[in-house]
Amino acid sequence: MRILSGIRSSGQLTIANYLGAISQFIALQNEHECFYFIADLHAITTPYDPKTFSHNVLDVAAMYLAFGLDPLKTTMFLQSLIPEHTQLQWLLATITPMGELERMTQYKEKTHQGDPADVGLFMYPVLMAADILLYKPQAVPVGEDQVQHVELTRSIAEKFNKRFGETFPLPEPKTLDKAFSRIKSLQDPAKKMSKSDDNQKASIGLMDTPEQIRAKMKSAVTDSKKDIVFNPNKKPAISNLLTIASGFSGLPITMLEQQFKGASYADFKMAVADMIIEKLTPMHEKYYELIKDKKKLKNLLVDHSHKAQVIASETLKEVQEKMGLAL
Ligand code: TYM
Repeated sequence: MRILSGIRSSGQLTIANYLGAISQFIALQNEHECFYFIADLHAITTPYDPKTFSHNVLDVAAMYLAFGLDPLKTTMFLQSLIPEHTQLQWLLATITPMGELERMTQYKEKTHQGDPADVGLFMYPVLMAADILLYKPQAVPVGEDQVQHVELTRSIAEKFNKRFGETFPLPEPKTLDKAFSRIKSLQDPAKKMSKSDDNQKASIGLMDTPEQIRAKMKSAVTDSKKDIVFNPNKKPAISNLLTIASGFSGLPITMLEQQFKGASYADFKMAVADMIIEKLTPMHEKYYELIKDKKKLKNLLVDHSHKAQVIASETLKEVQEKMGLAL
């Protein structure tokens, strides 16, 4: 099966990006033909600093590799190196109804937060549809917040196939384990954990130090009563922490409930912090090694982008021909 997914290079990635996306990417690479990319063109739809931007891109590349993405098995490319993405975006925009884009939750949330509602933010899901459809993948592993965009991609693909002839297989949003598809904020379990949250304590960054992780866990909100049980309706905060603990330790939630029976919330939170630290420490070591050689990382991205572009340009040509754009 062909798999494709991407991550925006906007600021520090969080443990939610790891549990909801990166850990799945790694798990899928042995069985499938995988394409994972860095969505730098999506990252510029929110405020950013051009001076540090290329560092953010290499940062994501180093993190993919440090977590175990194998460049011999997987194609890891950079979106902006492949102009076919923006070319196909325009073609798809001509068959995408405004109303469907206006309904996108992420767009509505961002505009409500007061971000400038520019056309780039509005077109974001059409670029995402182009990212996906260029490679004709069967599945797209994403967290819950991106499922709506993958569904829109299916609807654009269906419309294209109907109007211009069978071209795109319909991609499925794929979540390996649904439990990790919506990790919640440590400060408010009603909200998702997000790298753009203004409250620094709401999320744990993948590059946070052990001290920062312990401090954030210490201040994580808990629920009423004292028992450590999984019940997302009655105990949303503790259930979120149990989910995080399960993702980082690899242990099932029922086993963790047993293990922490009778423990205080404070002790439980410190134990979860330790599980995260144990996983992230070896990743940090690899990351710092990889980021030393920026040229090597850059060459890898360029090289893999060339490989991806071969497929992208074939699809674009097919689309242009079907749309009557070829002379
Ligand atoms: P991004 O960079 O916001 O997030 C990267 C991945 O992390 C997942 N994620 C979460 N998973 C679980 N719990 C959370 N709280 C959580 N927060 C984020 C996201 O669902 C995502 O899978 N538009 C995309 C990038 C993109 C893309 C694509 C993805 C661009 N083109 C094509 C797939 C296919 C984004 O901004 O993800």
